[in-house]
Amino acid sequence: MALVCFPFKKEDVDVVMRNVKTAAQHPRVRMVLLVGASENETYVEIDARLPALGAQCDVPIVQMTQLRLGALREGKGDGMNTALLYFLRAHEYDELFGEPVVSEPLERIHFYDADIESFNSSWITKAEEAADMEYDVIRHYFPRSSTDAQITWQITKVGFSLLFPLSVLPWVQQPLGGELCLTRRCVDVLVSDERVMRQSDWGIDTLYTFVCAQAGMNMIEVYVPEGKLHALYGGLRDLFNMLIECFAALQGLQKCSIRAESVHRIASAEPVPNSVTSKIGYNIEKSLVLLSENWTPRQEELLHVLFPERVAAGLIACRDWPQYSFMDEATWVECYQVLLANFEFGDSDWHELIFKLWVSRVLNYTMRHVIRGYDTAMNELRHMVQDIQQKSAIELIKARREAQGCSPRVL
Ligand code: DGY
Repeated sequence: MALVCFPFKKEDVDVVMRNVKTAAQHPRVRMVLLVGASENETYVEIDARLPALGAQCDVPIVQMTQLRLGALREGKGDGMNTALLYFLRAHEYDELFGEPVVSEPLERIHFYDADIESFNSSWITKAEEAADMEYDVIRHYFPRSSTDAQITWQITKVGFSLLFPLSVLPWVQQPLGGELCLTRRCVDVLVSDERVMRQSDWGIDTLYTFVCAQAGMNMIEVYVPEGKLHALYGGLRDLFNMLIECFAALQGLQKCSIRAESVHRIASAEPVPNSVTSKIGYNIEKSLVLLSENWTPRQEELLHVLFPERVAAGLIACRDWPQYSFMDEATWVECYQVLLANFEFGDSDWHELIFKLWVSRVLNYTMRHVIRGYDTAMNELRHMVQDIQQKSAIELIKARREAQGCSPRVL
Protein backbone atom coordinates (compact mmCIF):
# COMPACT_ATOMS: atom_id res chain seq x y z
CA MET A 1 0.00 0.00 0.00
CA ALA A 2 1.12 3.53 -0.71
CA LEU A 3 1.66 6.82 1.03
CA VAL A 4 0.96 9.92 -1.05
CA CYS A 5 2.92 13.02 -0.07
CA PHE A 6 2.16 16.59 -1.06
CA PRO A 7 5.01 18.93 -0.13
CA PHE A 8 3.78 22.54 -0.04
CA LYS A 9 4.71 26.12 0.76
CA LYS A 10 2.20 28.87 -0.05
CA GLU A 11 -0.66 27.45 -2.08
CA ASP A 12 -4.29 27.82 -3.08
CA VAL A 13 -5.83 25.75 -0.28
CA ASP A 14 -8.89 24.74 -2.35
CA VAL A 15 -6.59 23.09 -4.90
CA VAL A 16 -4.58 21.38 -2.16
CA MET A 17 -7.67 20.03 -0.40
CA ARG A 18 -9.11 18.70 -3.64
CA ASN A 19 -5.84 16.90 -4.42
CA VAL A 20 -5.59 15.47 -0.91
CA LYS A 21 -9.14 14.15 -1.16
CA THR A 22 -8.44 12.55 -4.56
CA ALA A 23 -5.40 10.78 -3.11
CA ALA A 24 -7.10 9.73 0.12
CA GLN A 25 -9.98 8.14 -1.77
CA HIS A 26 -7.74 6.14 -4.11
CA PRO A 27 -8.01 2.37 -3.40
CA ARG A 28 -4.23 1.88 -3.38
CA VAL A 29 -3.54 4.68 -0.92
CA ARG A 30 -3.09 3.84 2.78
CA MET A 31 -2.30 7.35 3.99
CA VAL A 32 -1.76 10.94 2.85
CA LEU A 33 1.01 13.14 4.17
CA LEU A 34 1.17 16.91 3.82
CA VAL A 35 4.62 18.36 4.47
CA GLY A 36 4.62 22.13 4.86
CA ALA A 37 7.73 24.30 4.54
CA SER A 38 6.63 26.20 7.66
CA GLU A 39 3.56 26.89 9.78
CA ASN A 40 2.43 29.65 7.42
CA GLU A 41 -1.10 30.74 6.45
CA THR A 42 -1.54 27.81 4.07
CA TYR A 43 -0.55 25.39 6.82
CA VAL A 44 -2.95 26.94 9.33
CA GLU A 45 -5.83 26.94 6.87
CA ILE A 46 -5.24 23.32 5.87
CA ASP A 47 -5.11 22.40 9.56
CA ALA A 48 -8.49 24.00 10.10
CA ARG A 49 -10.03 22.17 7.15
CA LEU A 50 -8.52 18.72 7.72
CA PRO A 51 -11.05 17.38 10.28
CA ALA A 52 -13.95 17.87 7.83
CA LEU A 53 -12.00 16.25 5.01
CA GLY A 54 -10.81 13.43 7.26
CA ALA A 55 -14.46 12.60 8.04
CA GLN A 56 -15.05 11.88 4.33
CA CYS A 57 -12.01 9.59 3.93
CA ASP A 58 -11.09 6.19 5.37
CA VAL A 59 -7.34 6.68 5.55
CA PRO A 60 -5.23 8.85 7.87
CA ILE A 61 -4.30 12.31 6.59
CA VAL A 62 -1.33 13.71 8.47
CA GLN A 63 0.08 17.20 8.23
CA MET A 64 3.53 18.20 9.54
CA THR A 65 6.21 20.80 8.95
CA GLN A 66 9.46 19.70 7.40
CA LEU A 67 12.40 18.76 9.59
CA ARG A 68 15.71 20.59 9.31
CA LEU A 69 17.76 17.77 7.87
CA GLY A 70 20.15 19.13 5.27
CA ALA A 71 23.17 21.40 5.17
CA LEU A 72 22.08 23.82 2.45
CA ARG A 73 19.29 26.42 2.22
CA GLU A 74 16.15 25.17 3.97
CA GLY A 75 13.93 24.26 1.06
CA LYS A 76 12.18 21.56 -0.91
CA GLY A 77 14.91 18.99 -0.20
CA ASP A 78 14.18 19.02 3.52
CA GLY A 79 10.48 18.61 2.75
CA MET A 80 10.93 15.59 0.51
CA ASN A 81 13.53 13.97 2.76
CA THR A 82 11.26 14.44 5.79
CA ALA A 83 8.60 12.53 3.87
CA LEU A 84 11.03 9.71 3.03
CA LEU A 85 11.96 9.26 6.69
CA TYR A 86 8.33 9.38 7.74
CA PHE A 87 7.38 6.81 5.09
CA LEU A 88 9.97 4.35 6.40
CA ARG A 89 8.82 4.71 10.01
CA ALA A 90 5.06 5.30 9.82
CA HIS A 91 4.25 1.77 11.08
CA GLU A 92 6.27 1.92 14.31
CA TYR A 93 6.88 4.24 17.21
CA ASP A 94 9.54 6.76 16.26
CA GLU A 95 11.30 9.42 18.32
CA LEU A 96 10.87 12.02 15.61
CA PHE A 97 7.37 11.21 14.48
CA GLY A 98 5.72 9.68 17.55
CA GLU A 99 3.04 6.96 17.50
CA PRO A 100 2.59 4.69 14.46
CA VAL A 101 -0.13 5.69 12.04
CA VAL A 102 -0.37 2.47 10.02
CA SER A 103 0.02 -1.13 11.14
CA GLU A 104 2.19 -2.50 8.31
CA PRO A 105 5.28 -1.05 6.57
CA LEU A 106 4.23 1.08 3.61
CA GLU A 107 5.44 -0.20 0.23
CA ARG A 108 5.55 2.90 -1.96
CA ILE A 109 5.69 6.64 -1.63
CA HIS A 110 4.26 9.02 -4.22
CA PHE A 111 5.14 12.71 -4.46
CA TYR A 112 2.91 15.27 -6.18
CA ASP A 113 3.23 19.05 -6.09
CA ALA A 114 0.28 20.30 -4.04
CA ASP A 115 -0.65 23.04 -6.56
CA ILE A 116 -1.42 20.89 -9.60
CA GLU A 117 -4.82 21.91 -10.89
CA SER A 118 -5.03 18.98 -13.33
CA PHE A 119 -4.23 16.29 -10.74
CA ASN A 120 -6.59 13.31 -10.73
CA SER A 121 -6.64 9.72 -9.54
CA SER A 122 -5.18 8.37 -12.81
CA TRP A 123 -1.80 9.91 -11.83
CA ILE A 124 -1.72 7.53 -8.87
CA THR A 125 -3.15 4.58 -10.80
CA LYS A 126 -0.54 4.89 -13.57
CA ALA A 127 2.29 4.93 -11.07
CA GLU A 128 0.86 2.02 -9.07
CA GLU A 129 0.37 -0.13 -12.16
CA ALA A 130 3.95 0.56 -13.22
CA ALA A 131 5.22 -0.28 -9.73
CA ASP A 132 3.35 -3.59 -9.95
CA MET A 133 5.74 -4.44 -12.81
CA GLU A 134 8.57 -4.14 -10.28
CA TYR A 135 10.07 -0.84 -11.31
CA ASP A 136 11.76 0.94 -8.41
CA VAL A 137 11.27 4.46 -9.70
CA ILE A 138 8.20 5.65 -11.53
CA ARG A 139 8.41 9.18 -12.86
CA HIS A 140 5.50 11.09 -14.37
CA TYR A 141 6.24 13.13 -17.45
CA PHE A 142 3.94 15.46 -19.30
CA PRO A 143 3.92 18.03 -22.08
CA ARG A 144 5.23 21.46 -21.06
CA SER A 145 5.11 24.83 -22.74
CA SER A 146 8.09 25.44 -25.06
CA THR A 147 9.16 28.39 -22.90
CA ASP A 148 8.73 26.50 -19.63
CA ALA A 149 11.28 23.98 -18.26
CA GLN A 150 14.31 26.08 -19.14
CA ILE A 151 16.29 24.89 -16.12
CA THR A 152 15.47 21.31 -17.05
CA TRP A 153 16.64 21.80 -20.64
CA GLN A 154 19.48 24.30 -20.43
CA ILE A 155 20.96 23.19 -17.11
CA THR A 156 20.04 19.65 -16.14
CA LYS A 157 19.67 17.90 -19.48
CA VAL A 158 22.73 19.68 -20.88
CA GLY A 159 24.72 18.80 -17.74
CA PHE A 160 23.67 15.15 -17.65
CA SER A 161 24.50 14.80 -21.35
CA LEU A 162 27.92 16.41 -20.97
CA LEU A 163 28.94 14.60 -17.79
CA PHE A 164 27.22 11.22 -17.94
CA PRO A 165 26.63 10.60 -21.65
CA LEU A 166 26.70 6.81 -21.45
CA SER A 167 24.34 6.56 -18.49
CA VAL A 168 20.58 6.58 -18.38
CA LEU A 169 20.54 10.23 -17.24
CA PRO A 170 20.45 12.06 -20.60
CA TRP A 171 17.40 9.98 -21.51
CA VAL A 172 15.30 10.88 -18.48
CA GLN A 173 12.42 12.96 -19.81
CA GLN A 174 11.92 15.32 -16.87
CA PRO A 175 14.87 14.88 -14.50
CA LEU A 176 13.67 17.69 -12.21
CA GLY A 177 10.09 16.43 -12.09
CA GLY A 178 8.52 16.43 -8.63
CA GLU A 179 5.85 13.87 -9.50
CA LEU A 180 7.19 10.42 -8.87
CA CYS A 181 6.69 7.16 -7.00
CA LEU A 182 9.47 5.25 -5.24
CA THR A 183 9.53 1.78 -3.75
CA ARG A 184 10.74 1.09 -0.22
CA ARG A 185 13.94 -0.42 -1.65
CA CYS A 186 14.60 2.82 -3.48
CA VAL A 187 13.82 4.98 -0.44
CA ASP A 188 16.30 2.93 1.61
CA VAL A 189 18.98 3.76 -0.96
CA LEU A 190 18.15 7.47 -0.93
CA VAL A 191 18.03 8.00 2.82
CA SER A 192 21.29 6.16 3.36
CA ASP A 193 23.08 8.44 0.91
CA GLU A 194 24.61 11.44 2.69
CA ARG A 195 24.59 13.51 -0.50
CA VAL A 196 20.80 13.19 -0.67
CA MET A 197 20.20 13.99 2.98
CA ARG A 198 22.33 17.16 2.93
CA GLN A 199 20.58 18.49 -0.20
CA SER A 200 17.89 20.54 1.50
CA ASP A 201 17.37 22.96 -1.40
CA TRP A 202 16.12 22.85 -5.02
CA GLY A 203 18.98 20.49 -5.89
CA ILE A 204 17.03 17.60 -4.37
CA ASP A 205 15.41 16.51 -7.65
CA THR A 206 18.83 16.30 -9.32
CA LEU A 207 20.11 14.19 -6.43
CA TYR A 208 17.17 11.78 -6.44
CA THR A 209 17.50 11.30 -10.20
CA PHE A 210 21.26 10.88 -10.06
CA VAL A 211 21.44 8.57 -7.04
CA CYS A 212 18.69 6.29 -8.36
CA ALA A 213 20.63 5.94 -11.62
CA GLN A 214 23.92 5.39 -9.85
CA ALA A 215 22.35 2.67 -7.71
CA GLY A 216 20.97 0.96 -10.82
CA MET A 217 17.31 1.37 -9.88
CA ASN A 218 14.92 0.28 -12.64
CA MET A 219 12.91 3.21 -13.90
CA ILE A 220 9.81 3.80 -15.96
CA GLU A 221 8.38 7.15 -17.03
CA VAL A 222 4.61 7.25 -17.32
CA TYR A 223 2.90 9.85 -19.46
CA VAL A 224 0.27 12.28 -18.20
CA PRO A 225 -1.33 13.74 -21.34
CA GLU A 226 -3.29 16.52 -19.66
CA GLY A 227 -0.04 18.09 -18.47
CA LYS A 228 0.60 19.82 -15.21
CA LEU A 229 -1.51 22.93 -15.05
CA HIS A 230 -0.09 25.23 -12.43
CA ALA A 231 0.71 28.91 -12.08
CA LEU A 232 3.49 29.94 -14.50
CA TYR A 233 6.35 32.31 -13.80
CA GLY A 234 6.65 36.09 -14.07
CA GLY A 235 10.11 37.19 -15.14
CA LEU A 236 12.95 34.66 -15.16
CA ARG A 237 14.16 36.22 -11.88
CA ASP A 238 11.52 34.01 -10.16
CA LEU A 239 13.73 31.05 -11.03
CA PHE A 240 16.97 32.55 -9.67
CA ASN A 241 17.38 30.26 -6.63
CA MET A 242 16.24 27.19 -8.48
CA LEU A 243 18.72 27.85 -11.27
CA ILE A 244 21.67 28.33 -8.92
CA GLU A 245 20.81 25.36 -6.73
CA CYS A 246 20.13 22.98 -9.62
CA PHE A 247 23.40 23.93 -11.29
CA ALA A 248 25.38 23.66 -8.04
CA ALA A 249 23.91 20.22 -7.34
CA LEU A 250 25.04 19.03 -10.75
CA GLN A 251 28.45 20.64 -10.44
CA GLY A 252 28.90 18.79 -7.15
CA LEU A 253 28.32 15.47 -8.91
CA GLN A 254 30.68 16.01 -11.81
CA LYS A 255 33.47 13.83 -10.42
CA CYS A 256 31.12 10.89 -9.76
CA SER A 257 30.80 8.02 -12.15
CA ILE A 258 27.86 5.84 -13.04
CA ARG A 259 28.65 2.27 -13.88
CA ALA A 260 25.36 0.63 -13.00
CA GLU A 261 23.19 -0.74 -15.74
CA SER A 262 19.49 -0.34 -15.18
CA VAL A 263 16.28 -0.75 -17.07
CA HIS A 264 14.73 2.47 -18.33
CA ARG A 265 11.37 2.46 -20.10
CA ILE A 266 9.47 5.48 -21.39
CA ALA A 267 5.74 5.24 -22.05
CA SER A 268 4.93 6.85 -25.38
CA ALA A 269 3.82 10.45 -25.54
CA GLU A 270 0.60 11.68 -27.14
CA PRO A 271 -0.31 14.76 -29.19
CA VAL A 272 0.23 17.87 -27.11
CA PRO A 273 -2.97 19.77 -26.30
CA ASN A 274 -3.44 23.35 -27.44
CA SER A 275 -3.64 24.47 -23.81
CA VAL A 276 0.08 23.60 -23.55
CA THR A 277 1.36 24.53 -27.04
CA SER A 278 -0.20 27.99 -26.83
CA LYS A 279 1.13 28.80 -23.37
CA ILE A 280 3.96 31.27 -22.77
CA GLY A 281 6.10 30.09 -19.86
CA TYR A 282 7.65 33.37 -18.72
CA ASN A 283 7.29 37.11 -19.18
CA ILE A 284 9.73 38.06 -21.97
CA GLU A 285 9.61 41.83 -21.48
CA LYS A 286 10.36 41.54 -17.75
CA SER A 287 13.21 39.16 -18.53
CA LEU A 288 15.00 41.38 -21.09
CA VAL A 289 15.70 43.99 -18.46
CA LEU A 290 17.36 41.42 -16.17
CA LEU A 291 20.44 41.42 -18.38
CA SER A 292 21.25 44.98 -17.37
CA GLU A 293 20.84 44.47 -13.62
CA ASN A 294 23.22 43.94 -10.69
CA TRP A 295 26.52 44.26 -12.53
CA THR A 296 29.80 44.55 -10.60
CA PRO A 297 33.37 45.11 -11.84
CA ARG A 298 34.26 41.58 -10.68
CA GLN A 299 31.61 39.99 -12.90
CA GLU A 300 33.15 41.81 -15.87
CA GLU A 301 36.59 40.65 -14.88
CA LEU A 302 35.46 37.01 -14.53
CA LEU A 303 33.90 37.22 -17.97
CA HIS A 304 37.07 38.62 -19.56
CA VAL A 305 39.39 36.16 -17.85
CA LEU A 306 37.43 32.91 -18.09
CA PHE A 307 34.90 33.08 -20.92
CA PRO A 308 35.26 33.35 -24.71
CA GLU A 309 35.73 37.01 -25.67
CA ARG A 310 32.53 37.10 -27.75
CA VAL A 311 30.56 36.07 -24.64
CA ALA A 312 32.28 38.67 -22.46
CA ALA A 313 31.66 41.38 -25.06
CA GLY A 314 28.05 40.30 -25.70
CA LEU A 315 27.02 40.04 -22.07
CA ILE A 316 28.75 43.22 -20.94
CA ALA A 317 27.05 45.13 -23.77
CA CYS A 318 23.76 44.15 -22.10
CA ARG A 319 24.43 46.76 -19.45
CA ASP A 320 23.15 49.28 -22.02
CA TRP A 321 20.85 47.24 -24.22
CA PRO A 322 19.67 43.59 -24.05
CA GLN A 323 21.53 41.24 -26.39
CA TYR A 324 21.32 37.49 -26.74
CA SER A 325 22.29 36.59 -30.30
CA PHE A 326 25.77 35.54 -29.15
CA MET A 327 24.40 32.78 -26.87
CA ASP A 328 23.60 30.03 -29.39
CA GLU A 329 23.71 26.33 -28.48
CA ALA A 330 27.43 25.83 -29.14
CA THR A 331 28.36 28.92 -27.16
CA TRP A 332 26.17 27.81 -24.29
CA VAL A 333 28.01 24.48 -24.14
CA GLU A 334 31.35 26.33 -24.01
CA CYS A 335 30.07 28.55 -21.21
CA TYR A 336 28.63 25.57 -19.39
CA GLN A 337 32.04 23.91 -19.30
CA VAL A 338 33.63 27.08 -17.94
CA LEU A 339 30.92 27.17 -15.28
CA LEU A 340 31.44 23.53 -14.33
CA ALA A 341 35.12 24.24 -13.75
CA ASN A 342 34.88 27.65 -12.08
CA PHE A 343 31.44 28.48 -10.66
CA GLU A 344 31.52 29.14 -6.91
CA PHE A 345 28.34 28.33 -5.05
CA GLY A 346 27.69 30.96 -2.35
CA ASP A 347 29.53 33.72 -4.24
CA SER A 348 27.04 36.41 -5.24
CA ASP A 349 29.00 37.54 -8.32
CA TRP A 350 29.04 34.00 -9.66
CA HIS A 351 25.32 33.67 -8.93
CA GLU A 352 24.54 36.83 -10.90
CA LEU A 353 26.84 35.80 -13.70
CA ILE A 354 25.41 32.33 -14.23
CA PHE A 355 21.95 33.87 -14.03
CA LYS A 356 22.65 36.45 -16.76
CA LEU A 357 24.36 33.85 -18.95
CA TRP A 358 21.34 31.59 -18.60
CA VAL A 359 18.87 34.44 -19.24
CA SER A 360 20.72 35.28 -22.46
CA ARG A 361 20.57 31.59 -23.42
CA VAL A 362 16.83 31.35 -22.74
CA LEU A 363 16.16 34.56 -24.69
CA ASN A 364 18.29 33.36 -27.60
CA TYR A 365 16.33 30.09 -27.71
CA THR A 366 13.02 31.95 -27.42
CA MET A 367 13.73 34.47 -30.17
CA ARG A 368 15.37 32.03 -32.60
CA HIS A 369 13.28 28.90 -32.12
CA VAL A 370 10.13 29.44 -30.08
CA ILE A 371 8.81 32.03 -32.50
CA ARG A 372 8.90 29.36 -35.22
CA GLY A 373 6.27 27.29 -33.43
CA TYR A 374 5.95 24.67 -30.70
CA ASP A 375 7.18 21.63 -32.62
CA THR A 376 10.20 23.44 -34.04
CA ALA A 377 11.19 24.76 -30.63
CA MET A 378 10.89 21.37 -28.94
CA ASN A 379 12.87 19.72 -31.74
CA GLU A 380 15.66 22.25 -31.31
CA LEU A 381 15.82 21.47 -27.59
CA ARG A 382 15.90 17.74 -28.22
CA HIS A 383 18.58 18.08 -30.91
CA MET A 384 20.74 20.27 -28.69
CA VAL A 385 20.74 17.65 -25.96
CA GLN A 386 21.20 14.71 -28.34
CA ASP A 387 24.19 16.36 -30.02
CA ILE A 388 25.86 17.02 -26.69
CA GLN A 389 25.19 13.47 -25.50
CA GLN A 390 26.60 11.93 -28.70
CA LYS A 391 29.76 14.02 -28.79
CA SER A 392 30.46 13.45 -25.10
CA ALA A 393 29.75 9.72 -25.42
CA ILE A 394 32.23 9.35 -28.27
CA GLU A 395 34.91 11.27 -26.38
CA LEU A 396 34.33 9.12 -23.31
CA ILE A 397 34.52 5.86 -25.26
CA LYS A 398 37.76 6.98 -26.93
CA ALA A 399 39.25 7.95 -23.58
CA ARG A 400 38.26 4.61 -22.04
CA ARG A 401 39.80 2.69 -24.93
CA GLU A 402 43.00 4.65 -24.64
CA ALA A 403 43.11 4.07 -20.89
CA GLN A 404 42.73 0.34 -21.50
CA GLY A 405 45.55 0.44 -24.07
CA CYS A 406 43.23 -0.58 -26.91
CA SER A 407 44.11 0.58 -30.39
CA PRO A 408 41.95 3.57 -31.22
CA ARG A 409 39.25 2.59 -33.68
CA VAL A 410 37.46 4.98 -35.95
CA LEU A 411 34.18 5.66 -34.26
C1 DGY B 1 12.22 23.54 -14.94
O1 DGY B 1 13.08 24.03 -15.65
O2 DGY B 1 11.84 22.38 -15.09
C2 DGY B 1 11.62 24.34 -13.84
O3 DGY B 1 10.47 23.73 -13.37
C3 DGY B 1 11.29 25.73 -14.29
O4 DGY B 1 10.36 25.73 -15.31
